[in-house]
Amino acid sequence: MKIAIISDIHANLEALEAVLFEIEKSNVDKIFCLGDLFLAGYDPNSTGAKIFELIKKYKENFEIIQGNTDKMLANYSEELFELAKNKFPCMGYALRDDLNIIDKKYLDFIRNLPEKKSIEINNLKIELVHGSPRKQDENIYPNLDINEVEQMVENSNAQIILCGHTHLPCGYSLNSGKTVVNVGSVGRSMTQDKMPYWALLTINNDATFQIEHKTTKYDNKKVSNIILKRNFPHSDELAKMYLEN
Ligand SMILES: [Fe+2]
Repeated sequence: MKIAIISDIHANLEALEAVLFEIEKSNVDKIFCLGDLFLAGYDPNSTGAKIFELIKKYKENFEIIQGNTDKMLANYSEELFELAKNKFPCMGYALRDDLNIIDKKYLDFIRNLPEKKSIEINNLKIELVHGSPRKQDENIYPNLDINEVEQMVENSNAQIILCGHTHLPCGYSLNSGKTVVNVGSVGRSMTQDKMPYWALLTINNDATFQIEHKTTKYDNKKVSNIILKRNFPHSDELAKMYLEN
């Protein structure tokens, strides 16, 4: 069985379509999406329509959970705006501006998503989380101390833990036998190349498995220019995040 895992799309339709093109070629049986669908991208409504299309196409073979920024958008308040603005000005203003664009049906959709999901395939337990099993916005970064990662996932009984949130792909094989894979971000990758990342999980009948990080090219300069034209305070800083360092 082949499963594509995507995360952190952030309303970047161009990147999502590039990744879905690769996923289609891989003949996957299922798609898992680990949240952060909309915040601070350029086209939340077309991204939402694409997600709804995937749900219709894959039915029970499409699994999706809520990301921390889905929760922020769905539960927006002026207080949340102030908090976000003080931490990352461009994200705070993007959050407020997104609410002028995004259709209510997509906000209702992300409000009602679960924070985690447990799935069993061929006796293999898989947990889908956005940050870590213990916290929706915890960072499982590359190059962490392996004991620190072990603590982050100690309340999970899954053999495979799939996460996103940091926008940086990485993976850990822990002494407890757990495999932790951060699949990276489709829509606003923080890798040096700023290209979309996703993962392909292959599960064999004997419950052995392989996970590969995947990437593809897309027109990041075009997306950066569209973001710049959103023209809210600090949108220039956001636009720079799509370009190579
Ligand atoms: Fe994200």
